[in-house]
Amino acid sequence: MDYTIAQANLSKLGYLDLPIPKGMDLKQVILDLKKEKNAVLLAHYYQNKDIQELADYLGDSLYLAKAAQNIDADIIVFAGVHFMAETAKIINPSKKVLLPDLNAGCSLADSCPPLEFAAFKANYPEAVVVTYINCSAEIKALSDIVCTSSNAVQVIESIDRDTPIIFAPDKNLGRFLIKETGRDLILWDGSCIVHEAFSFEKIVNLAKANPKAKFIAHPESESQVLDIAHYVGSTSGLLNFVQKDDADSYIVGTEAGIIHEMKKVAPQKTFIPAPVEDDTCACSECAFMKLNTLEKLYLCIEHEKPEILMDVKLMQKALKPIEKMLRL
Ligand code: 13P
Ligand code: SF4
Repeated sequence: MDYTIAQANLSKLGYLDLPIPKGMDLKQVILDLKKEKNAVLLAHYYQNKDIQELADYLGDSLYLAKAAQNIDADIIVFAGVHFMAETAKIINPSKKVLLPDLNAGCSLADSCPPLEFAAFKANYPEAVVVTYINCSAEIKALSDIVCTSSNAVQVIESIDRDTPIIFAPDKNLGRFLIKETGRDLILWDGSCIVHEAFSFEKIVNLAKANPKAKFIAHPESESQVLDIAHYVGSTSGLLNFVQKDDADSYIVGTEAGIIHEMKKVAPQKTFIPAPVEDDTCACSECAFMKLNTLEKLYLCIEHEKPEILMDVKLMQKALKPIEKMLRL
């Protein structure tokens, strides 16, 4: 397919569909292109391991948002999902922000449509709106402060105890925060399909079969799963835990991509992905995150597309609650 047709397809497909020269060393070419174009690659721990290895910044949502704040390169390539690239663009409106596949969405962000959320918010005019970073720019623009799973407790605790708080979009993280902070949050009914796919019964059975393994989980998982976890935390929290803790093996209740970094930081330990309800699918993999491939990453840097383009006023509105979080 020639480049003009691929350009036309970009708006339909959400990514560039061009042939890759046979025998091309994609990893080396991506490294060379980054240098040549003064581009940096930010990648989340849920990306496939080849992409993680190429990243200039690899981390959780908070780390990547902070990294985006300090970048002076011309181009930011985001190997993650759409809301992450959008956040990087909001923080750096003058930079070119690229996402290898625009279809890399997030079920949690999709579970909170702006019109419905605005109507929900109107029912609680006194409430402060705290939103988890896994939401669209439109939802951020309706928020007072953003948080990630790394700083959600801190953000909630920064709000006066008498002030009602709306928390959106993740009801599971919300319930976890109610337990951790003792605050009575008004929850939006959203969730992540990946973390809700874990099977409580199968985890219990796996733990019985591996009595020395500790079960660790991301707070987007359901309460009954979190209740049996030895540790609950963000992806970077989970990584720190397995490094410092004295157990030899762990059942990992989050997206399986993180196991690559876990093996690197604790090579002597064993990591078992937590089982999911449906045996026929790879549900502990985030299908959205995995839409970014080495091939799409190469085409994206080479042709500087697809780019995240946003309305300036929306970016300005969405920036305020992000900045408030970053100042905390
Ligand atoms: P972290 O901020 O913990 O990396 O979480 C991001 C995410 O999308 C979890 O599903
Ligand atoms: Fe969204 Fe869940 Fe994928 Fe994280 S794992 S990006 S919350 S769908």
